[in-house]
Amino acid sequence: MSDSTLTRNINIQSNGDNNLRREVSRSESFSISPGETFHHRPSWGESGSARLRRTTTGAFPKQLKPFKEQDIKILLLENVNQTGKDILSQQGYQVESLKSSLPEDQLIEKIRYNSHHSSSPQRTLTLTFFFLRDVNVLGIRSKTKLTARVLAEAKNLIVVGCFCIGTNQVDLKYAASHGICVFNSPFSNSRSVAELIIGEIITLARQLGDRSSEMHAGTWNKVSTKCWEIRGKTLGIIGYGHIGSQLSVLAEAMGMSVIYYDVVNLMSMGMARQVPSLEALLSGADFVTCHVPELPETVNMIGKEQLKQMRTGSYLLNASRGSVVDISALIDAMRSGKIAGAALDVYPSEPGGNGDYFNNDLNPWAEDLRSLKNIILTPHIGGSTEEAQSAIGVEVAEALVRYVNEGVTTGAVNMPEVSLRSLTMDEPNHARVVFIHQNVPGVLRRVNEILGDHNVDKQMTDSKGDTAYLMADISDVKERQIATLYKDLEGLKGMSVSLKYLDMFTDAGTERIITRILY
Ligand SMILES: NC(=O)c1ccc[n+]([C@@H]2O[C@H](COP(=O)([O-])OP(=O)(O)OC[C@H]3O[C@@H](n4cnc5c(N)ncnc54)[C@H](O)[C@@H]3O)[C@@H](O)[C@H]2O)c1
Repeated sequence: MSDSTLTRNINIQSNGDNNLRREVSRSESFSISPGETFHHRPSWGESGSARLRRTTTGAFPKQLKPFKEQDIKILLLENVNQTGKDILSQQGYQVESLKSSLPEDQLIEKIRYNSHHSSSPQRTLTLTFFFLRDVNVLGIRSKTKLTARVLAEAKNLIVVGCFCIGTNQVDLKYAASHGICVFNSPFSNSRSVAELIIGEIITLARQLGDRSSEMHAGTWNKVSTKCWEIRGKTLGIIGYGHIGSQLSVLAEAMGMSVIYYDVVNLMSMGMARQVPSLEALLSGADFVTCHVPELPETVNMIGKEQLKQMRTGSYLLNASRGSVVDISALIDAMRSGKIAGAALDVYPSEPGGNGDYFNNDLNPWAEDLRSLKNIILTPHIGGSTEEAQSAIGVEVAEALVRYVNEGVTTGAVNMPEVSLRSLTMDEPNHARVVFIHQNVPGVLRRVNEILGDHNVDKQMTDSKGDTAYLMADISDVKERQIATLYKDLEGLKGMSVSLKYLDMFTDAGTERIITRILY
């Protein structure tokens, strides 16, 4: 008996009744009668039932399952939040979660020979043979490096979930070129950052940091000079995106006037007012706070000249990216009394872990900065709250489920965003084809030649860089036809090699087409 047959048989034992029928029907011989349909009701745990909401057409959405990946294996590293683990487990996926990150070599071993530690005898039986298979889904946070070398070893990997904001720990280009979709959670911590800024505005206005440090050193220093209420003061927000606009609402509720500057014309929240230039913002605000992304045009956006344009005795806050403020210029402006206080959460260089690292070796001005009065220095904690971590767990896990079950790439960072409305229970013989391919001429024609024997109900394709993503819902597919469809689409793999000879495609070595069929 081959390994794959063994795995299939053992899966049958390990699954419930509903799945038993499904696994049998998927044996390679496809012995089901031609007239048999593969209509199935959602049976994938609690969140499956939660999805039994009617679509806008009044029909119940049909929960799809992948044709090829029979048992989805998920490896979560770096102690991903419980909310995310729960959503994935409730789908019936096999989830293994590790508390820490793994260095490159260990990660490769883990991906190759992922072994689960379960006390369930059925689970143990299933997994005896699973070491031969790679994981399908990888969940990481910021410390795990997914280099091309690691990704190359993860042969069955279809999707990576970064349970964090940044994705620079993943070789996104390599991942896209190998059909591995990457998701993150860019906005789950917006509220946490906005609340931190509100707290800091009051802290700076009342010099709370200094008073507290003095008391810790045993000094009673009751002063009111240059301590202010924030009511009636003007907050200037640079970058009115997710964080900036949340902050706008909170600041107005505290009695502040809000002005903002953004490169895009944006609808104001409440009574906030967009100003036409950065200079107008700097000269019109008592507190200036930065919430722009790191871009070439935002590097040192607040430098010597901009600090001069600020009001004397005003305050500067930055919880966006460390490169946005020229910190040497800020130190000078604070020493001269031009700037009365500052709060920095982000720095040009930040250490990889916790410890005594905030010194001149890390950033040449660190010790000068530490010596200033009325400056709040925090270690990039703007988004570090329990609520944000929990929201990240939900957001990323749901994106992974949507991708695995439905092929939807909405929110992906390295793939075009492609989505089709859910198939419904009224469409029992429909299947969804996902075809990720190199963005070269002629592919769609060849795909459609293959799909042409069926009725293509809806189709969407888009590309991002060299990678293109096609999703099509086809009707009247017999279960036994799915294997043929899959084989025919996979057979398009050689296409770009021939194009290579026409000099239309230069790097056939990185070519990879992934076909997925969900039904
Ligand atoms: N400190 C933390 O822990 C933490 C947490 C989350 C986000 N952040 C950072 O905060 C920043 C803002 O995050 P967000 O979620 O609000 O982003 P966002 O994309 O929702 O908003 C950014 C806004 O900046 C505007 N913008 C871009 N370039 C600009 C320019 N040159 N001048 C003026 N406006 C410009 C954009 O139009 C957009 O409205 C990002 O840098 C993000 O990385 C930090």
